[in-house]
Amino acid sequence: MASLPSHYTLPSGDRIPSVALGCWKASPGEVGLAVSAALKAGYRHIDGAYVYGNEEEVGKAIRKSGFRREELWLTSKLTNIFHAPEDVEAALDYSLGKLGTDYLDLYLIHWPIAFKKEGENVLDIELTANPYPTWKKLEEMVDKGKVRNIGISNFNIARIQNLTANPLKYQPAVNQVELSFWNPQPELLKWAKEHNLLLEAYSPLGSNNQVKETLSVPEVKTLAKELGITPAQVVISWAVQRGTVVLPKSVTPSRIQENLQVFKLPQGAFDKLEAAAAAHPPKRVVNPSERWELGFDLFDNDWPF
Ligand SMILES: NC(=O)c1ccc[n+]([C@@H]2O[C@H](COP(=O)([O-])OP(=O)(O)OC[C@H]3O[C@@H](n4cnc5c(N)ncnc54)[C@H](OP(=O)(O)O)[C@@H]3O)[C@@H](O)[C@H]2O)c1
Ligand SMILES: *[C@@H]1O[C@H](CO)[C@@H](O)[C@H](O)[C@H]1NC(C)=O
Repeated sequence: MASLPSHYTLPSGDRIPSVALGCWKASPGEVGLAVSAALKAGYRHIDGAYVYGNEEEVGKAIRKSGFRREELWLTSKLTNIFHAPEDVEAALDYSLGKLGTDYLDLYLIHWPIAFKKEGENVLDIELTANPYPTWKKLEEMVDKGKVRNIGISNFNIARIQNLTANPLKYQPAVNQVELSFWNPQPELLKWAKEHNLLLEAYSPLGSNNQVKETLSVPEVKTLAKELGITPAQVVISWAVQRGTVVLPKSVTPSRIQENLQVFKLPQGAFDKLEAAAAAHPPKRVVNPSERWELGFDLFDNDWPF
């Protein structure tokens, strides 16, 4: 079978591997083994975050693997309580310390929602409405050499345009968003391509609570059988063929290996899957708006303020 791109080139010139190991909900005691298994299987890209609470174990597994730092791609994310410009560098340093490295390949604003440091989920309305002060600090981190690329996550088009309307020194290199059979977001994908913004597909298998449903979608199962690959490989391949980075999470060595094997689907198969994904109303697995008691949907394209 034909192959898919193993990397994409970012505006910085850096080449980001198209398939990463996702580290969310990988428990202590599990995540290190998953990272070791992934590096052994050929992954060179690890997608983590401060808020996953497991960067120390990830770092240990990386150091144990014996890879040179420059052989690996490490992503982390700035969490909501550290958007204030004066908090950004300390948050980054914390993740660097846990991972045991002196730079990240990619640092993302995890959510377009800023909370005050004190109190639980107290919205910082100004920094939520206008992420530019946070972004400027991230640009400074690039200039300091602590991060090679900066990006965003969970930003809709309105929020991206609000950010990029500022005189940015560095454009967002990626936007990491939920992209799956259930929430394929063709409009965002088209827009991102037109604006040279790479998307990263999170929860590509439907996350823990919907992975079974994803892998039993009739179109997915039929294609898997036709092509002699697994249902997970069908949807992960589809994600790369759509031109996105894909971040499947697994702590199971056999699945970790399975998920790295992507194949170019025949055009007809690709089109069939794309149409099937668009044929039902989009449904997100991940939307913390209610849990965070925001009083609005953070993905709403109408500016809430
Ligand atoms: N930026 C954000 O806000 C954000 C939000 C969500 C996710 N993410 C990133 O995206 C990554 C992936 O998303 P996700 O963790 O939500 O979910 P996912 O990758 O869509 O699904 C993970 C689930 O699928 C199972 N699985 C993995 N490979 C499989 C296979 N080949 N066959 C059968 N089952 C399989 C895993 O089980 P086992 O682990 O038990 O094998 C786990 O239950 C995260 O880990 C994180 O890095 C980012
Ligand atoms: C982004 O939106 C906020 C809130 O509406 C506004 O104050 C700010 O000026 C906008 N930024 C740009 C560059 O338009």
